[in-house]
Amino acid sequence: MKLLVIGSGGREHALAWKLIQSPRVEKVFVAPGNAGMTYEYGVENIAISTIPALVYFAQSHKIAFTIVGPELSLADGIVDAFLDAGLKIFGPSRKAARLETSKSFAKNFMQRHNIPTAVYDTFTDAHAAHQYIEQRGAPIVIKAAGLAAGKGVIVAPSLEKAHNAVDQILVTRLFGEAGAEVIIEEFLQGIEVSFIVMCDGQHVLPLATSQDHKRLHDGNTGPNTGGMGAYSPTPFISPGLHAQILREVIYPAVQGMAQEGVPYIGFLYAGLMITPDNQIKVLEFNCRMGDPETQPILMRLKSDLSALIEQALNGALDQTETDWDRRVALSVVMAAGGYPDNPQKGDAITGLTDLMTRQNATDDFHIFHSGTALNSNDQRQFVTAGGRVLCVTALGDNLKLAQQHAYTLAKQIHYNNSYMRHDIGHTGIEFIHKP
Ligand code: AMP
Ligand code: GLY
Repeated sequence: MKLLVIGSGGREHALAWKLIQSPRVEKVFVAPGNAGMTYEYGVENIAISTIPALVYFAQSHKIAFTIVGPELSLADGIVDAFLDAGLKIFGPSRKAARLETSKSFAKNFMQRHNIPTAVYDTFTDAHAAHQYIEQRGAPIVIKAAGLAAGKGVIVAPSLEKAHNAVDQILVTRLFGEAGAEVIIEEFLQGIEVSFIVMCDGQHVLPLATSQDHKRLHDGNTGPNTGGMGAYSPTPFISPGLHAQILREVIYPAVQGMAQEGVPYIGFLYAGLMITPDNQIKVLEFNCRMGDPETQPILMRLKSDLSALIEQALNGALDQTETDWDRRVALSVVMAAGGYPDNPQKGDAITGLTDLMTRQNATDDFHIFHSGTALNSNDQRQFVTAGGRVLCVTALGDNLKLAQQHAYTLAKQIHYNNSYMRHDIGHTGIEFIHKP
């Protein structure tokens, strides 16, 4: 069968790479894809992006089903359009995607269904928001309610920063209409983990656990980014906590959506804070897989992803199991200089093609591309073309070895002002070795 993946980042590269491994899949088209994907045998990029053109493509190429990577396409209603055209697609409808696209919907939904989350209130009026901040004190967290490309959350250590954040979001409209409403919530402390499941509207199939590293700099400092690295599985989620997350967060969310007449079909990602007293609090829901979490998760998935998605589309996830590589996978994101605000583009990347040749002879690492392009004058030369450039993903027998493996590889890739964190996996390693 032929499949279509929507998106162009490292997550979509990993999805296409995994899907084409199935003997049942003859071709994976990616719209629009990136330069790295064209090096995967059986994967082809297509340069179309509008929803009607994608519908037409899926119809005329007899696509068995489509998988949506990014939230923007979901917010634009790609799933609704495909379903209206009688096409199979794995992802939530525009209405179901509000779990991510509207933080106020998500917070109110959690309240309706007793899903644990930070105490909050929502505001459209700046004066009322300022008053609430004075009442609650700092540290406090200010969030634009709509989609702001991962930038709409400000963790304010002081009252002054909190008031400024409200003015920037509500008054100056730094994030445009995404900031027509703000959520102000309690600052939570603890360990952040990512918990991603597949949903078929009724049933849930958990994928392997993972942990992202959202801050730009080592030691979890600096501004929030899309994610600087991730690994799977994470030692922070014990079997007991795993069951608690399903019981307190995932099942109520999927049942709640079904009860409200908006069954949730697709990947569901819960960003969770595990507090020092082992409570679980939902920081956010995403209606898609994470980037970079997808890369280490799929690196470990031994089951046929196309078969899992087919089961989900048939409402049969309760009859499905997953099989995982017992090794740990760790991904290091290599970013462009200036990321996240002003990434530098067009720099030649060296050392990459050698590794890409070597990776074909082994199953223990893969370089997923995020923001790369081919030099227009030399089609063998990769250049940087985005903020997050590459996601170097490696397996190891334990977290420490996976970390060493990934960094040994990443250090062989060079371009001007390349930037990466040097401590991906560090909190997990410290936790494992804690006396
Ligand atoms: P979100 O997009 O809502 O997940 O927020 C982005 C990042 O901000 C999260 O990954 C956390 O690191 C941080 N964050 C969000 N909400 C809170 C909170 N209530 N307390 C502490 N940190 C938070
Ligand atoms: N890695 C965080 C996200 O995908 O939202």
